[in-house]
Amino acid sequence: MLSGSLRRLVAALAVALAVLATRAVAAVVDRSFHRDFNAVWGKRNARFLEHGRVVELSLDERTGSRLESKDRYLFGRFDLDIRLVAGESAGTITSFYICTGGARHDEVDFEFLGNVSGEPYLLHTNIFSDGKGEREQQFVLWFDPTADFHTYSILWNPLNIILYIDGTPIRVFRNNEANGVPFPTRQPVHVFASIWNAEEWATQGGRVKTNWSEAPFVATYRRFGASSACVWRGNGATTRCGGDHLPSSASSWMGQTLDWWSWMTLNWVRMNYMAYDYCEDRKRYPHAFPTECIIPIGRI
Ligand SMILES: *[C@@H]1O[C@H](CO)[C@@H](O)[C@H](O)[C@H]1NC(C)=O
Ligand SMILES: *[C@@H]1O[C@H](CO)[C@@H](O)[C@H](O)[C@H]1NC(C)=O
Repeated sequence: MLSGSLRRLVAALAVALAVLATRAVAAVVDRSFHRDFNAVWGKRNARFLEHGRVVELSLDERTGSRLESKDRYLFGRFDLDIRLVAGESAGTITSFYICTGGARHDEVDFEFLGNVSGEPYLLHTNIFSDGKGEREQQFVLWFDPTADFHTYSILWNPLNIILYIDGTPIRVFRNNEANGVPFPTRQPVHVFASIWNAEEWATQGGRVKTNWSEAPFVATYRRFGASSACVWRGNGATTRCGGDHLPSSASSWMGQTLDWWSWMTLNWVRMNYMAYDYCEDRKRYPHAFPTECIIPIGRI
């Protein structure tokens, strides 16, 4: 006979597996870019494939392309698989971001800065709160992002924003409102995916321009996941959240922060793959770093 605690463990695993199964179905079968997104710019350059389960966004001399989520969300975990433009990609930016719009907008960015053939991409991240950005962190990647799909995730809850690559945390921005740093908690976001020409600054500081004879530049997206997110219905009272039904509250994304192991992993990424951190740019901040940089990030 199973002991009580073992039975509880088995029950919890069964629930977790059921949740995972539902998610997998939602992500792989049910999810469609047709259902979740509109092409709001460069419609012609957004190609929906496999019944909308895959989308290719392309950049040519005429235009890039951008998808915008039909829903707006107030908090959530957003996952997206992306395969970046292979070969020549200098001057291009492929992106995945959440943004509120408006004058005092909030925004969280994954921007992949292309490069000349054979040279590495740079992942540029930024976080805007209450209209203020200038919180750039850049990373080189530990894999070839053009060879296959990788999962890029934005977790946004009232405690912090965490960026992940294939489940590995690479950046955290904690809610420091108590210390006077604005944190997005009030305005709903749209989710965006896009590709555009940014030859003025993207590649090697703007020295390398887009080579249009290599166009079109094509990035491929699949498996958008927002099942752990709160859909905004126009007023706060009718926000509906998903994915928050795991057995223990500790596993809820709404309360998720970095545990000890995640901090270790994040520090490993910072030590080995970080190319730029505004919090360490003494030229830019000769006298004092922004408040959120000074608060020790290693505290759990
Ligand atoms: C492109 O490659 C060069 C040379 O390896 C590198 O310095 C640069 O950071 C890479 N990325 C971008 C976006 O310029
Ligand atoms: C642009 O691409 C074409 C076609 O691949 C190539 O022949 C040419 O040398 C490239 N131009 C530059 C400036 O790299």
